[in-house]
Amino acid sequence: MTLTELLKKRRSVRRFEHKRVPREVLEGLLKATLTAPSSKNTRSTRFMVIEDAQILTKVAQMRDFGSALLADAPCAILVCGDSSATDLWLDNAAISATILQLVAEEAGLGSCWVHVNGRPRWSKERNSGSELSYAENSDAETATDYLRKFLPLPKEWNPLCAVALGYPLEPSKPRSEKDDADKVIYL
Ligand SMILES: Cc1cc2nc3c(=O)[nH]c(=O)nc-3n(C[C@H](O)[C@H](O)[C@H](O)COP(=O)(O)O)c2cc1C
Repeated sequence: MTLTELLKKRRSVRRFEHKRVPREVLEGLLKATLTAPSSKNTRSTRFMVIEDAQILTKVAQMRDFGSALLADAPCAILVCGDSSATDLWLDNAAISATILQLVAEEAGLGSCWVHVNGRPRWSKERNSGSELSYAENSDAETATDYLRKFLPLPKEWNPLCAVALGYPLEPSKPRSEKDDADKVIYL
């Protein structure tokens, strides 16, 4: 399959077979992902591979919306940026997470990016009792605060997202054709 075909085929997968992803497959994905370009070759992206079902269940509770799928995934890779290596850790980590999703697709796995960085543990609706919006309420717990309570994350590792990985339970629907003409300007 060409890269263009792979890009067209990839969709987010949120339901997985109850089947382990072999360790050598995970190692292959990470080896490929570690080739990612990075600012000044700082290679600041770090990975925490989580296969333990109990830990995945806890990670799935990091947000009240959008992260529950992690509880039924056989594996998730927490993609983090080392902020002591570069100020562009977030940019580097986003490139790595994207490459991870593409090499997962190539390996016949499904994946879904589940966001962590900057996300509140509880969405605004849950906090409706508070007069402050989430953005104004600096005391509100973030998904990262919550993860730090039980994951052995070094303090300079900042999670960007958790990439759920596994064998897809059902085939993905093809992407609908979109008119993207307004997204590009040629000069
Ligand atoms: C920055 C980013 C954050 C995302 N966060 C979540 C998330 O928290 N939960 C989720 O289920 N999907 C999440 N996704 C997946 C998107 O919903 C998905 O990529 C988008 O709807 C397009 O669908 P596709 O991946 O099938 O093309 C995220 C994707 C990106 C790139």
